[in-house]
Amino acid sequence: MLNFELKNPTKILFGKGQIARIAKELPKDAKILMLYGGGSIKKNGVYEQVVQALEGFQWQEFGGIPANPEYSVLLEALKVIKEEKITYLLAVGGGSVIDGVKFLSAAALYTGDSPWDILEKNMRTEEGAALPFATVLTLPATGSEMNSGSVISRAETGQKLSMGGPGLFPVFSILDPTVVASIPARQIANGVTDAFTHVLEQYVTYPVGAILQDRFAESVMQSLVEVAPKIMQNPADYEAAANFMWCCTMALNGLLSRGVPGDWAIHAIGHELTAQYHIDHARTLAIILPGHYTYNLEAKKEKLAQYGTRVWGITTGTIEEKAAAAIAKTEAFFNRLNIPTHLSEYTENYEGTAEKIAATFTERGWVALGEHRNLKPSDVEVIVKMRY
Ligand code: NZQ
Ligand code: ZN
Repeated sequence: MLNFELKNPTKILFGKGQIARIAKELPKDAKILMLYGGGSIKKNGVYEQVVQALEGFQWQEFGGIPANPEYSVLLEALKVIKEEKITYLLAVGGGSVIDGVKFLSAAALYTGDSPWDILEKNMRTEEGAALPFATVLTLPATGSEMNSGSVISRAETGQKLSMGGPGLFPVFSILDPTVVASIPARQIANGVTDAFTHVLEQYVTYPVGAILQDRFAESVMQSLVEVAPKIMQNPADYEAAANFMWCCTMALNGLLSRGVPGDWAIHAIGHELTAQYHIDHARTLAIILPGHYTYNLEAKKEKLAQYGTRVWGITTGTIEEKAAAAIAKTEAFFNRLNIPTHLSEYTENYEGTAEKIAATFTERGWVALGEHRNLKPSDVEVIVKMRY
């Protein structure tokens, strides 16, 4: 097992009726900006519950943060935060709203020329260097409600970049599984796929003897496999929704990555597909994952075979055969969620995509992806081509 440090300060309030707890958790003297997305919270009753909980507080709202939170929209919110001297942010939404709020929380206290620097220069936001914020999660998927990472898009330049740091954990997050009932099947499938891939990015590397970490990761994947058909069939099934929600949070709250190597190449490549074609985040992962694992089978075969045996019950064949079967099982799992896994199923104009992504990575100096930091842009080009 590798050395590690673990600190996750986010308080989780989980279960039915927890949105009302906002009133007890927020500081009474805070000047609050509540931020949300395109309006789903106004149709499913979440908005009313939040407004009720905010009674007696000094607060205002900012709606319209789009999926894949857009920098130009966030700059409008930043203006409000500065003009109104806001002291506390409350994100009500999925990963996009929460990520947008993380950016705003750092940008509000940033003293440099352009807040885009935080992303472009990959600046770490330290504790105390951001406005405090909390979240009401409405879409289980990203784990953003209990981690300190954020991904922001900028249409003007076609970029989608990450940021983070210990100052960007939510103070508290409300996880009420009843919000899942209103999520369209497409987004539920995205949530399962994203969370499942998060676990794999922290697991399909090489063995380091981290027995408990491996079992934690496998248990999250086994639970997602078990709950996926139930939640796809009936998002109002509270038990299924509760398990789905907690799996997504646990998949990316820092626990699984401790003491083990991390890959994250699938995400790095996937973000470029979202930037180029606006393909939903989770779907970009489902496209890239089979190619990445097949291309790097030799380096990843031990963990792939272990995953195949423990999660999918593959018991026969050589290590290589088990590893290949595990990749096929994963792709079939995504397909059962109605997620297509080839780029040509999303766009007709896919020719040249691989070269473009490789060139972008070269330009940024990203020449060392994967757990061995040995994947070059030329490897990325081959992987993307495998998935046309
Ligand atoms: O905008 P509204 O109207 O709220 O609608 C949203 C949006 O259209 C809708 N939705 C959310 N909750 C709902 C609901 N519809 C009905 N009922 C509800 N209860 O779902 C749509 C998608 O929402 P979005 O927040 O974009 O989805 P998701 O949570 O999948 O977030 C995706 C973003 O998170 C980033 C992705 O790159 C992408 O930008 N990620 C963030 C990570 C992190 N911070 O740790 C890690 C991930 O790997 C990922 O990169
Ligand atoms: Zn993801």
